[in-house]
Amino acid sequence: MKEKQIELKNITFSYEKNNVLSDITFDIEKGDYLGIIGPNGGGKTTLIKIILGLLLPQKGEVVIKGRCGYVPQKAAQDVAGFPATAREVIESGKGGFKKEVKNTEEIMKLTGTEKYKEKLISDLSGGERQRVFIAQALVSNPEILILDEPSAGVDVATQSDFYSFLKKINEKGVTIIFVSHDINIIAKEAKKVLCLGGEKICYGTPQETLTEKNIEKLYGREVNFFLHRH
Ligand SMILES: Nc1ncnc2c1ncn2[C@@H]1O[C@H](COP(=O)(O)OP(=O)(O)OP(=O)(O)O)[C@@H](O)[C@H]1O
Ligand SMILES: [Mg+2]
Repeated sequence: MKEKQIELKNITFSYEKNNVLSDITFDIEKGDYLGIIGPNGGGKTTLIKIILGLLLPQKGEVVIKGRCGYVPQKAAQDVAGFPATAREVIESGKGGFKKEVKNTEEIMKLTGTEKYKEKLISDLSGGERQRVFIAQALVSNPEILILDEPSAGVDVATQSDFYSFLKKINEKGVTIIFVSHDINIIAKEAKKVLCLGGEKICYGTPQETLTEKNIEKLYGREVNFFLHRH
C-alpha cells in the first residue's frame, strides 16, 4: 500500500452560520494527482484552505506529511499594479525554506518564465502571470502542489503545455491537487477525482466518479456534458 500523505477525517466547516462542508473524509496518497470539481460555492477553495492550515475546521482532523506549494484562485488577477518583477515574485516563494529551495533559474526555465523575468508582473498577460505564480509555488521544492483553478483564462496551447508540465512534476513524485470546472480536463489529467458540493458527493477514479448520475447530483440538475474518451 502507498503511503498516506494527507488525511482528512470528518471535516465540518462553517463561516459563521453558513455551513460549507459537512463530514468530509478522504485520504490522498503520496504521488496522487487529485482533481476537485463542483459547483460555485461548493466549498472547494475552503477545503484547500483547510488542507493548507489557513482555516481551522470546527470539527474533524487534518494530517499532512510534506511541504505544500499553493497557487491561489485568481492569483494572476489579484496583482494588477503590484510593483515587482516576475523574478522577485518567484523568489518570494522561497519564504522560510531557504535550505531546501530549488534554483530559481532552473524553475524559471521549467515554467517558461525566463523570457520575461525582469518585466513587472503588472505588465504581463494573465497566462504569463499564472506561470509566475506556479514558479513561485515551486521554488520551495514542495512535496505537494495545490492549485486552485490554475488554467482559468489560459489559452488552449498554454493550457496543454501547462498540464504536461504538471504531469512531469507528478511523475517525479510530487503530489498534485487541483481545482477545475472543466470535466474533460479533470477526466484526462487526474488519477483521482473529488466531486464536492458541500458534502462529499463522490471520490474515486475518473471512471467511477464522472458519471451522469453523479454530475446530476453534484449540480442539482441535469447537465449536458460530453466526456471525450482517452
Ligand atoms: N471568507 C468568507 N466568509 C464568509 N463566507 C465565505 C468566505 N469565503 C467563502 N465563503 C462562502 O462559503 C461558500 C464556499 O465558498 P468557496 O470559496 O469554498 O467555494 P468554491 O467551491 O471554491 O467556489 P468557486 O467554484 O466559485 O470558486 C460560499 O457560499 C461562499 O460564499
Ligand atoms: Mg473556489
